[in-house]
Amino acid sequence: MTKTNSIIFYFIIVLELILIKIQLSDGSELIIRRPRANLTHVPKDLPLATTTLDISQNNISVLQASDIVLLSKLRVLMMSYNRLQCLDMGVFQFNTELEYLDLSHNELRVISCHSAVNFKHLDLSFNAFDALPICKEFGNMSQLEFLGLSGTKVQNSSVQPITHLNISKVLLVLGDAYGEKEDPGSLQHVSTRSLHIVFPVKREFRFILDVSVSTVINLELSNIECVLEDECYYFLKALSKLEKNEKLSNLTLNNIETSWNSFMGILQCVWHTPVKYFSISNMKLHGQLKQRDFDYSNTSLKALSIYQVVSNAFSLSQNYLYSIFSNMNIQNFTVSGTRMLHVLCPSKVSPFLHLDFTDNLLTDLVFEDCRNLTELRTLGLQKNQLKKLEKIILMSAEMTSLQKLDISQNSLSYGEGEGLCAWTESLLVLNLSSNMLTDSVFRCLPPKVKVLDLHNNRIMSIPKDVTHLQALQELNVASNSLTDLPGCEGFSSLSVLVIEHNLVSYPSADFFQSCQKIRSITAGNNPFRCTCELREFVKNIGRLSEVVEGWPDSYTCDSPESAKGTLLQDFHMSALSCDTVLLIVTIGVTLLLLAAIVAFLCLRFDLPWYLRMAFQWTQTRHRARNIPIEELQRNFQFHAFISYSGHDSTWVKNELLPNLEKDDIRVCLHERNFVPGKSIVENIIHFIEKSYKSIFVLSPHFIQSEWCHYELCFAHHNLFHEGSDNLILILLEPIPQYSIPSNYHKLKTLMAQRTYLEWPTEKSKHGLFWANLRAAINVKLVNQAETTCHIQR
Ligand SMILES: *[C@@H]1O[C@H](CO)[C@@H](O)[C@H](O)[C@H]1NC(C)=O
Ligand SMILES: *[C@@H]1O[C@H](CO)[C@@H](O)[C@H](O)[C@H]1NC(C)=O
Repeated sequence: MTKTNSIIFYFIIVLELILIKIQLSDGSELIIRRPRANLTHVPKDLPLATTTLDISQNNISVLQASDIVLLSKLRVLMMSYNRLQCLDMGVFQFNTELEYLDLSHNELRVISCHSAVNFKHLDLSFNAFDALPICKEFGNMSQLEFLGLSGTKVQNSSVQPITHLNISKVLLVLGDAYGEKEDPGSLQHVSTRSLHIVFPVKREFRFILDVSVSTVINLELSNIECVLEDECYYFLKALSKLEKNEKLSNLTLNNIETSWNSFMGILQCVWHTPVKYFSISNMKLHGQLKQRDFDYSNTSLKALSIYQVVSNAFSLSQNYLYSIFSNMNIQNFTVSGTRMLHVLCPSKVSPFLHLDFTDNLLTDLVFEDCRNLTELRTLGLQKNQLKKLEKIILMSAEMTSLQKLDISQNSLSYGEGEGLCAWTESLLVLNLSSNMLTDSVFRCLPPKVKVLDLHNNRIMSIPKDVTHLQALQELNVASNSLTDLPGCEGFSSLSVLVIEHNLVSYPSADFFQSCQKIRSITAGNNPFRCTCELREFVKNIGRLSEVVEGWPDSYTCDSPESAKGTLLQDFHMSALSCDTVLLIVTIGVTLLLLAAIVAFLCLRFDLPWYLRMAFQWTQTRHRARNIPIEELQRNFQFHAFISYSGHDSTWVKNELLPNLEKDDIRVCLHERNFVPGKSIVENIIHFIEKSYKSIFVLSPHFIQSEWCHYELCFAHHNLFHEGSDNLILILLEPIPQYSIPSNYHKLKTLMAQRTYLEWPTEKSKHGLFWANLRAAINVKLVNQAETTCHIQR
């Protein structure tokens, strides 16, 4: 590029940047993450508003200005674990907001600097630099808080540009080839509060670098290996220089491999430095342990923590080691993730306040009959080999200041009625979770305990006669086998209850009455049985949902099958289906009401009459349907022959005739149609035969009429002869049985056999009567069967 060209190029870029800035002037965050995406280049499709870009763990080997120049909002760029080999800091000159740059774990050998960059966090550690990558421009990074460096040569001159900066934390990773021409004082002028030096792995510690930097408060040293020389000379020498470092407070050692003797040497050395908090993690120890007196005097140490120790020494004089530990004059002591088997009781009253022996192999014998831990406030024994709770109770009895005891994740059980219930009265927080405790644990608990964690045990019920724990505020009984919520009679102060993952299917609804102080209850993931019994509980819990943790999502019905999976919140059952008394009362009242209505209808509207008529009607309809139409079409002259007594002729003419003829039913009356000259008997026979049906109007008068009886006789005969029922009886007025003369046995049988149509006196019922009659005649009769009944009397 010629000079003019590059000027034009920059000009265009600046213009674009201004435009973008105008578009993106709000301060919103846009985080783009593409780690482990097998990228070989910085992606081109990044949004211009990106503020954080994570492209770590890829295969990117080049970073150019054009990759990121348009990301003018970029503040954080993470590119660790890539394959960058060289870098020109000038590529960032237009990313004026960039303040966090992580280029650790690349293959950088060279960087060239640019005055325009000003980071808060710059990580160049774990690269392949030879000399420390500090250019003179770094001196301008006045905001620098973290600086990660790596190199194989650390020289006084190379740190010169940054000595005037106050950097919060400096990480210095020494390359594998470090140590040839060491400049021991090279770090002396760095001004930082926290210094972390990572030494080369798998290299015997023979370095003479002075790590006692006067400004440092927190010093961390990683990868220390001194296995060849039993005394660990160089490292101890480096540590001993810390004595003059008044500000130093925290010392952390990571990844140490050394001998037991050197380890004791290191402890002894740190004991006399200004270090207050000393922490060692990931330590591998070899060899034997020589018994030497430990000088506890003159120490600033308050806390010692040892995490993750592997030892291949089996015939160690353990008592010596344990007695050194137990007599330490510090407040906090942590030994965790080691295979420590035992700790001894301090030989005199110990200043220990907090002991944490998590994840070791301690047994019930720990601190048995130990009277010298009277100051102890907290004791952590989780993840050990404790078995008998009785022993632990006795142990606590002597610890008169103990407030917090964690014995979770052991194999503790509590035998019935064994030993005294001698918990120390001072105990406020007791963690018994993940053990094998059963209901019996409630027989003996610390009387003033406020927080009790019993989750993941084998408790099936909380006995009603539990020792009264008036101070108990938090009870965790999750993941047991409880079938009901406890009442608060025994725990009048209870405010937090965790009872999820149990077997509670019908929680007692009176829980909320008995536990007035509850402000948090976690009862989800129980197999709730969604039936009537649960309604009250759901109502209560819904009302207090602000104190119910996990509501509504973790509360679902488990049974009955039809409701499985339904949220309790959506479970409703009506009051009626749940209250037996209410149900019985409701059914009773309904039945009574129904009976009353029926009675009323019977009385008021003669319901039985209607029913009878309706029944007959349907019967007739049914019969009519079964008669083939051809049959009906046979040569009938009339639809109906009517036989009646002269006394009833008014009714016949005024009521019956008009009503039948209205529907084109052809009716034959003897008055009207009988052929003069023929004998009456002939006429009767003739017309009955010519009529499809014979209607008899029965009344006391009918019985008195001889002719009528004849007619009935013929009709009846006809009926049997033909096999079809062509006889219709209308009972106009009631006929008392006795009034039928005995020789009228035909009529008697007929009346007894056949249902007859009763003429109702009430006008309102006449409609139904006529309908019934019409149905009985079966008006589907065909027209051509007719000739008028032209015979005149
Ligand atoms: C000691 O341990 C306790 C409990 O873990 C902690 O609160 C306290 O800050 C520690 N004190 C020191 C001096 O490390
Ligand atoms: C009890 O210990 C377990 C782990 O062992 C832990 O998850 C739980 O939070 C502890 N409980 C309390 C109340 O500290």
